[in-house]
Amino acid sequence: MDLSTPGHPSAEPFYQVQGNEQTLFEQAWRHRMPVLIKGPTGCGKTRFVQHMAHRLNLPLYTVACHDDLSAADLIGRHLIGAQGTWWQDGPLTRAVREGGICYLDEVVEARQDTAVVLHPLADDRRELYLERTGEVLQAPPGFMLVVSYNPGYQNLLKGMKPSTRQRFAALRFDYPAAADEARIVAREAAVDLALATEVVTLGHALRRLDQHDLDEVASTRLLIFTARMIGAGMPPREACLACLAEPLSDDVQTVAALMDVVDVHFG
Ligand SMILES: Nc1ncnc2c1ncn2[C@@H]1O[C@H](COP(=O)(O)OP(=O)(O)OP(=O)(O)O)[C@@H](O)[C@H]1O
Ligand SMILES: [Mg+2]
Repeated sequence: MDLSTPGHPSAEPFYQVQGNEQTLFEQAWRHRMPVLIKGPTGCGKTRFVQHMAHRLNLPLYTVACHDDLSAADLIGRHLIGAQGTWWQDGPLTRAVREGGICYLDEVVEARQDTAVVLHPLADDRRELYLERTGEVLQAPPGFMLVVSYNPGYQNLLKGMKPSTRQRFAALRFDYPAAADEARIVAREAAVDLALATEVVTLGHALRRLDQHDLDEVASTRLLIFTARMIGAGMPPREACLACLAEPLSDDVQTVAALMDVVDVHFG
């Protein structure tokens, strides 16, 4: 089970700055504060962390949290091989040893026992306790813990405990302003700015349709998919159905209502 994606890509991941998030993140890292990023799906949280890891020249270990993710998945475990039992570091332990970033995506999904591990690491002790081996690791200055979650998905049972939340500096992300989003869509979908602007204008109109109880509105990610398909020559209506309306809802009437908006824009 490979939960981590170590290292960082050689080219700097493109990231369109929204406000003071770069400075905040950098200052938090310098002052050894963990950071929490909250925001809706596909708004750039993961891209931002990749970008910052590259900027600060730090190895990045990303863990996609799920409801079965335990402290051992983060820390490591004993494995049995041909030569007997050996210890394998988990992604959190590797990030601590190397002085890199450990990024826990959708952290509210993880099992409660992970909090026990994260608390001493996320406060001024900066210690990781490897219960199974008896080791206590002191995190080096480069180490940073970053977590993210989507407040929209959260149910009442799953919120982060105040004692966990209050160990982090927090950043709120949202979908970019139209001009920035068009620049992102153009760049990521490799289409011209005119087409990207058209898709983003449609996206913003769809986001305003709040009478249909969608779980989430159209993300930047979906706008990129749509623009990419249109750019590749797919008829706009088909691209919008496949990359915008259908991913947003399973309800036939809601999809039809979304397509009405599409038809106004691309009709
Ligand atoms: N500010 C930005 N600069 C550059 N690209 C962006 C930006 N925001 C979004 N994107 C693009 O949108 C895509 C989705 O962003 P990302 O994967 O970072 O979302 P996320 O917030 O991590 O979503 P999720 O909560 O679903 O994991 C990225 O692959 C990237 O192409
Ligand atoms: Mg993400």
